[in-house]
Amino acid sequence: MEQQQLAIVLEQGLAELSSTKTIPELEQVKSRYLGKSGQISSLMQQIKSIAPESRKDFGAKVNALKNEFEIALDERKKHIIQLEMEQSLLNETIDVTLSGRGISLGTLHPVTLSLQRMIRIFNTLGFSVQDGPEIETDYYNFEALNFPQNHPARAMQDTFFTEKLSVLRTHTSPIQIRFAEANPPPIKIIAPGRVYRVDMDRTHSPMFHQLEGLWIDKDISFANLKGVLIQFLRTFFAKEDLQVRFRASFFPFTEPSAEIDIMDDNGRWLEVAGCGMVHPNVLKSMNIDSKIYTGFAFGLGIDRFTMLRYNINDLRLIFDNELDFLEQFRGQA
Ligand code: PHE
Repeated sequence: MEQQQLAIVLEQGLAELSSTKTIPELEQVKSRYLGKSGQISSLMQQIKSIAPESRKDFGAKVNALKNEFEIALDERKKHIIQLEMEQSLLNETIDVTLSGRGISLGTLHPVTLSLQRMIRIFNTLGFSVQDGPEIETDYYNFEALNFPQNHPARAMQDTFFTEKLSVLRTHTSPIQIRFAEANPPPIKIIAPGRVYRVDMDRTHSPMFHQLEGLWIDKDISFANLKGVLIQFLRTFFAKEDLQVRFRASFFPFTEPSAEIDIMDDNGRWLEVAGCGMVHPNVLKSMNIDSKIYTGFAFGLGIDRFTMLRYNINDLRLIFDNELDFLEQFRGQA
């Protein structure tokens, strides 16, 4: 009789378990059987009131029943969780036909844009692109470029010194020497890069960008210099009638030397580059025979060209990396 009663309780319990569909339902069944006044709990209670001779046997059977119920409960729980998971996966289908949110691409910095523009123009004129180290020796930055030993540009206030006899290059001109040392003429190169000077105010940054140019061959004259640079300036600023002026100037490494001015829309002359015929002393440091070869060199400030081309009125915008500013150059060339 007892035996049968236990079997019925178990059968019922298992049936109730297997009809549950949610965790709360399962919890309800659990408390009906294992809760304080649950059916299995009350069977446990009964053990102590059973006659001593059959108590052990009854106890063992109730325990076995409880065990079996608990195992079934556990399995049901896993099953429900599994079902709920499958259900939620079904509900959360991804609509692959929806249009994407779009990946926003960054933009090229205006200095990069104008450098790319410069390189394109000089490539069409036959110049190749070269570079050199930003930490230079006194020799390449000054000595080989015919700077007299006592030239003020070597003084502390202009030049960042690193270790003994090393400097952060103050211009891209040392690349002229490095390239010419390794490559005999004809030489026809441009060399863009970062340069450094102890200088910082509204119109100067301690790091800025220059583009160097050098063309050495037989019979290169100042006329070639003018032809190349006027062509470059008119193409860069996309203005065929751009007024260009060459104003006599001085650089230790060129002779004669000139500063190049262009006329802006208000009729004002703006200085945009330095240039000149390569000084014989410089050709000598390049191991080039100045009786056979001549050449010209020029150097321009890429940041300044960028400001002029894109009408940027504050140098700090070039170096602050403000997204609102940079975003405006999306798609520009
Ligand atoms: N190196 C010069 C400067 O930094 C520019 C320049 C280069 C001038 C080549 C003449 C020839 O100002």
